[in-house]
Amino acid sequence: MAEKSFKYVILGGGVAAGYAAREFAKQGVQPGELAIISKEAVAPYERPALSKAYLFPEGTARLPGFHVCVGSGGERLLPEWYSEKGISLILSTEIAQADLASKTLTSAKGEAFKYETLIIATGSTVIKLSDFGVQGADAKNIFYLREIDDADQLVEAIKSKPNGKAVIVGGGYIGLELSAALRINNIDVSMVYPEPWCMPRLFTAGIAAFYEGYYANKGINIIKGTVAVGFGANEKGEVTDVKLKDGRVLEADIVVVGVGGRPLTTLFKGQVAEEKGGIKTDAFFKTSVSSVYAVGDVATFPMKLYNDIRRVEHVDHARKSAEQAVKAIFASEQGKSVDEYDYLPYFYSRAFDLSWQFYGDNVGDTVIFGDSNPTSATHKFGTYWIKDGQVVGAFLESGSPEENKAIANVARAQPPAGSLDELASEGLAFATKL
Ligand code: FDA
Ligand code: NAD
Repeated sequence: MAEKSFKYVILGGGVAAGYAAREFAKQGVQPGELAIISKEAVAPYERPALSKAYLFPEGTARLPGFHVCVGSGGERLLPEWYSEKGISLILSTEIAQADLASKTLTSAKGEAFKYETLIIATGSTVIKLSDFGVQGADAKNIFYLREIDDADQLVEAIKSKPNGKAVIVGGGYIGLELSAALRINNIDVSMVYPEPWCMPRLFTAGIAAFYEGYYANKGINIIKGTVAVGFGANEKGEVTDVKLKDGRVLEADIVVVGVGGRPLTTLFKGQVAEEKGGIKTDAFFKTSVSSVYAVGDVATFPMKLYNDIRRVEHVDHARKSAEQAVKAIFASEQGKSVDEYDYLPYFYSRAFDLSWQFYGDNVGDTVIFGDSNPTSATHKFGTYWIKDGQVVGAFLESGSPEENKAIANVARAQPPAGSLDELASEGLAFATKL
């Protein structure tokens, strides 16, 4: 089969790929120099929409509405944008083999793609219950959510089971966002997760208590401290029930599983240095192999602010790491350099009429402030994380854009916390006065 050659290839067509493409154009990439190879059938889009407005019965998001870079208020890159710039968008093409020594990628269909510089932007895949051998986990209407095809299948199932019952397995991002989305579709929702409270990777018990109370008021049945160990199915192979480890059995027409992601690094095993489950990079997202970069979910990079190396599975970093890598590639070609990546972690989520933002590091002591009563009409609350006497992380539910900016500034500046009692009573004013 014919071989195609490009100066630059981005492997993956998700968020990082889209933002990288925009930066390539800004840097003056020439027609024919850049290709994006993606197993998805559509041009890069803002993945966060899939667990939110894509699933809503009203105000539904559909492509081309949410192609990158609308999620950060930027220009929407339609498929035509790539052709106008002479960027090859090679879609529905899964790379099955990557040979970094010969700088060749080979697709599942046997096409070969050569590159001079490669950006790995393969993102994450879902962890499946069948990976742990959960019995019946391959029944129909058990869904995972990563790509637009997954979302389309879920939308079909929601339509075909009006007023049905859903069980959401997992209490992380997917669990919380999907429970809300299904409830909004008038589905009877139960959530199951093993931990004592939801989103334990980030939330304190105090933060989680608000969301659990709020979800319960929306009619969501929360079952904690147990896991799904099996699924029943009818004669058509469709899921009918979820068996829990504590012996309970929940009826289900739809199951959504969100038990974590896994960075897609398998193509590069043994060819590139890895760390903390990802591909190890420097502050310019360059890997241990010269002319190979890794960005987004797959990159384990130096987090300058904390003198640590980390991997981040969130959209803000996917966008910024992609831009940093492309700037660094162009600078190095011109014998110049760019500043080291100096990232302030930023995570957010939205569900129902709730919206939270978090900046910084969630380590050390915590104080909660504001109105965190889930039944209050004026709920607005937050949490600070304090390490070695300094505020290092800040969380805010229902903040205004200015207030969210203020907590971001706190997390970046790491001011002295003073007395924790005073910090708690001062609350948001501590951030807004900074
Ligand atoms: P991303 O997953 O976006 O893209 C990877 C691309 O590579 C995909 O197109 C994939 O098909 C392709 N690919 C992989 N292997 C390939 C191969 N072998 N050959 C060809 N193509 C291949 N974050 C946040 O901060 N706020 C939020 O609200 C959300 N919401 C959210 C919802 C949902 C449903 C998901 C799944 C994730 C989020 N996230 C999020 C996380 C965020 O979307 C995620 O961190 C970024 O999409 C990561 O961007 P990447 O480009 O690294 O991977
Ligand atoms: P996650 O890591 O946020 O949550 C996984 C959850 O799975 C855990 O909190 C736990 O409750 C649960 N769990 C683990 N094993 C289980 C088991 N056997 N049975 C039941 N529950 C179990 O992962 P996720 O929610 O699946 O999200 C996948 C990826 O998508 C992540 O990279 C995440 O960052 C990303 N994402 C981000 C956002 C956002 O930032 N707003 C939204 C959606 C998805």
